[in-house]
Amino acid sequence: MRCVVYTGAGGNEVVSCEERPDPVCGDEEVLIHAAFAGLNGADVSQRNGHYPAPPGWPADIPGLEVAGVVQEVGAKVRGWQVGDRAWGLVGGGGLADRVAVHASCVTHVPSRLDAREIAAVPEVFITAHDAVASQAGLRPGEVLLVHGAAGGVGSAAVQIGVALGATVIGVSRHAEGRDAIAGWGATAIDAEGWPERVLELTGGRGADVILELVGAPNVPGDIQCIARRGRLAIVGIGAGQKVELALRDLMTKRATVFGTTLRARPLGEKIDAISRFHAECGPLFDAGRLNPVIDRAFPWNEAADALARMEGPGKVGKVLLDFAS
Ligand SMILES: NC(=O)c1ccc[n+]([C@@H]2O[C@H](COP(=O)([O-])OP(=O)(O)OC[C@H]3O[C@@H](n4cnc5c(N)ncnc54)[C@H](OP(=O)(O)O)[C@@H]3O)[C@@H](O)[C@H]2O)c1
Repeated sequence: MRCVVYTGAGGNEVVSCEERPDPVCGDEEVLIHAAFAGLNGADVSQRNGHYPAPPGWPADIPGLEVAGVVQEVGAKVRGWQVGDRAWGLVGGGGLADRVAVHASCVTHVPSRLDAREIAAVPEVFITAHDAVASQAGLRPGEVLLVHGAAGGVGSAAVQIGVALGATVIGVSRHAEGRDAIAGWGATAIDAEGWPERVLELTGGRGADVILELVGAPNVPGDIQCIARRGRLAIVGIGAGQKVELALRDLMTKRATVFGTTLRARPLGEKIDAISRFHAECGPLFDAGRLNPVIDRAFPWNEAADALARMEGPGKVGKVLLDFAS
């Protein structure tokens, strides 16, 4: 297989693009041939030495997701055949063109989407759906505020919120991001002065659900503009993780703050998140109400440039690696 390998911890000097033997397909697994792979913030953190793969996953091949064609089916697996298309989550090893994954951690893929598009879906849409719909319980008519709304998880969350009948406000620091957010059916606002703008847009009521994808610097503003009985989901902390909170405001508003990760969840809980995503988002993809958003695809042997793009400003949607070219 062709894969991205981290030879140590550091900057892009530890990124190597290598040929290795294909992974062995276990009895409960399917082996997937992927034409494209999706990058995530976690791949950057892992390269930096801050986010090792959980036990049982390749320690030196990053990548949290897989999408492609089933090439081999484990002896105990039912419901999958060679040639089916599948997408889902892995704990590591996803930046490769062959990935072995537990058969319950992948689901069937909408026929409407091509090989490139499917690679832009699993991690960001499952994360967004799990946080906003399953955990925060976003209801039709509520206000959803999404930070980092033009990025991978953000673009998924905005679309899911709109599809669920919420009023969505998305924050981006750049005009291209705000144009994209508006195109997905949300109100796009600048990161400058965002708490005041959210209160203005909601007539002082605030947001019922807030998806925090940027981190600590936003949290005082989140508490300032969360609605009564609002739910604040902490999903990304790229801009910092330590914060001083006004607990009185939290109490007065009877608001809930929760944090969540997908990668290290026990298998059963991961399968549950994937199944819920499949049941609720699958029909929305079929109907064209959810769409993958791709910033750019890089040839697989330019993985260092792809990681640099992932870290840089001004993205709209997902950064991919192309194993097909
Ligand atoms: N907990 C989990 O299970 C889980 C799963 C997936 C991802 N994540 C995390 O969630 C975050 C978002 O993931 P993603 O894939 O959507 O990443 P992404 O595509 O890089 O999007 C994040 C967006 O946040 C904004 N942003 C980044 N750094 C910022 C800063 N310092 N100040 C203000 N805005 C900033 C940027 O948008 P603008 O430039 O448009 O402002 C950026 O596009 C990452 O930290 C990732 O590691 C967590």
